[in-house]
Amino acid sequence: MTSRRLDDRYAVTDKFVTNTGIRAAAQRRVSPVVWNYLECGTGDEVTLRANGRVFDDLVFDTPLFAGISNPDTSTRFLGHDLSFPALIAPFGGGEHLLDGAGHLATGRAARDIGIRQIVPVAAAHSLEDIAAASGVAQMFQITFVGDPGAVLDMIARAKAAGCEQVVATYSPILQWRERIIEDRFSFRSGDVDANFGPGKSDPAMLREQLEFSRPRWGWAEAAEVIGKSPLPVIVKGVLTPEDVHRSLGAGAAGLYVSNYGGRSIDRMTPALSALAEVRAAAGPDVPVIFDSGIRRGSDIAAALALGADVVALGRAVGYGLAADGEAGARRVLEILRREFWTTLGHLGCSSVADLGPQVFLGR
Ligand SMILES: Cc1cc2nc3c(=O)[nH]c(=O)nc-3n(C[C@H](O)[C@H](O)[C@H](O)COP(=O)(O)O)c2cc1C
Repeated sequence: MTSRRLDDRYAVTDKFVTNTGIRAAAQRRVSPVVWNYLECGTGDEVTLRANGRVFDDLVFDTPLFAGISNPDTSTRFLGHDLSFPALIAPFGGGEHLLDGAGHLATGRAARDIGIRQIVPVAAAHSLEDIAAASGVAQMFQITFVGDPGAVLDMIARAKAAGCEQVVATYSPILQWRERIIEDRFSFRSGDVDANFGPGKSDPAMLREQLEFSRPRWGWAEAAEVIGKSPLPVIVKGVLTPEDVHRSLGAGAAGLYVSNYGGRSIDRMTPALSALAEVRAAAGPDVPVIFDSGIRRGSDIAAALALGADVVALGRAVGYGLAADGEAGARRVLEILRREFWTTLGHLGCSSVADLGPQVFLGR
């Protein structure tokens, strides 16, 4: 029988032991241009920094003699058991630049750790190939743009490939991402178009998404598509009670609190600052995903305590993919889960259900 170490924080046989180390390795491994693509925010990157600062400003209450031994990190979300309350966020195009296997690799990492991923519409691998690579039910992110019938056809395609929910995104106009403008960065054929072309979906939809060649939808079009969608629709980018009510009024099955990791427009609300208000407006039963700024297990605990059911991981998983492909993505998830576990224990929580506002000092 092999003896197991009680404390495996210093597991020297592992290539990476912290996510800080993984991020540093990622930066060494990719070109400065790809690094800027992954890291960039918009404008002065005020929102990007604020997404992290709001977590820095939280103060936990750590009760003495709470009697916790081995907290249970698992949860259930949209009918699936997750080993910890996380999903992999969609990062379209970028995933391929970080590692050629892109979302094929992150999907397998998610499966191995026992979570799910959200597959982006603009990707280097088709949604069918990504679904087949991991064999687990995924979610599919689609931009609501262009011809509503084409969007519905694509949702039907995602359903046929085994996706169970759709994450609807809205992108009003091209973003001002200075780092990549300076780098003259642009996508090449193969980076984002795997879902389009003969036998797949109409490339016009991708062009409309990336080139902003047609007027964007209003709530009337969004509600019509949500109403006809063969899959439940979760609306991403909800940051205010008004958009909670509009989304639910349009028939959304869930909400996704996000400012896209500070990549849409600068000086938006840090996503975490919006979370409690969104949960209050939505009520206790609406599924809520949170992202933007999650880097640590303690961040996951904070987001759940403020009302999220699960978090989504963007750059955090991107660092793993860039540092060591599929193994790197898997390692990021393992480390996050371990950090989340230790956070639960220190907060006096024996399970995810125990997380609430009481974990913060003075609440
Ligand atoms: C390189 C990159 C590409 C992204 N592409 C998409 C995308 O195609 N669709 C989408 O909905 N969000 C996209 N996002 C946003 C992520 O889904 C997520 O909201 C964001 O990364 C969360 O912030 P975080 O990186 O601080 O965790 C992208 C993010 C990054 C970093």
